[in-house]
Amino acid sequence: MSIRTQTIGSVELAFVDSGEGTPVLLIHGFPLDHAMWSAQIDALGAHYRVIAPDLRGFGASGVTPGKVTMEQFADDLAALVDALGIGGPVVVCGLSMGGYVAWQLWRRHARRVRALILCDTRAAADTPEVAAGRLETAERVLREGPGLLVPAMMPKLLAPSSAAARPELAEALGRVIERTDPQGIAAALRGMAERPDVTATLAAITCPTLVVVGNEDAISPPQEMGAIARAIPGARLVEIDGAGHLSPVENPEQVNAAMLEFLAAL
Ligand code: MLT
Repeated sequence: MSIRTQTIGSVELAFVDSGEGTPVLLIHGFPLDHAMWSAQIDALGAHYRVIAPDLRGFGASGVTPGKVTMEQFADDLAALVDALGIGGPVVVCGLSMGGYVAWQLWRRHARRVRALILCDTRAAADTPEVAAGRLETAERVLREGPGLLVPAMMPKLLAPSSAAARPELAEALGRVIERTDPQGIAAALRGMAERPDVTATLAAITCPTLVVVGNEDAISPPQEMGAIARAIPGARLVEIDGAGHLSPVENPEQVNAAMLEFLAAL
């Protein structure tokens, strides 16, 4: 899987571009990188053109310190799709923070969006307490390094059953987090803290939409994602067995089957 780079404004974005056909853009969660989509890059890449970027500040992409909003991430990706010469709309698939970016792609670049796949994400904004906690965490990560996120986040990312059955998952995710630039993490935390509540806009989504959630997701639980699916006209909800917040990583077989069925019907 070779990584390419493309300069977008002042930043160089790294991405995988694999396969041919309808383009599918895979947007990773926080504080990860494109590698969380490895199983989807393989399975979807056999039938579609899969583009899996590292968002600004993550993975091998360039870092801009300060704050990066979800709107900025979305604009980066719209510019990347343009730079790749993709004239038509793309299927936009985002997990968690990637879902926050997907909402903004729909709101700001709707003509670029063929369909939406929302995995383990939220439409609601942060409460003031959660937002304040993110700002504090941003400062701590800058002082102490990204490693402090590993014990704090891992129990919330993976379902207990998948963490126990596949200890290598937590190890690999931990390594990704530890090598992420603290400035990139802090900038995304500040951006997430001020992201808008998009609940009221869900009813206006007109493209085909698939909603995917791990049945043990503790961050964006099935009940909350069910409400998102009911609010989007015609959206389909698929619950993934034995998976927490990272359903595409924890149960790739079920997630890939749901995505391939959805994509084939477009
Ligand atoms: C993610 O997985 O991207 C994070 O859980 C998003 C968040 O912190 O809200």
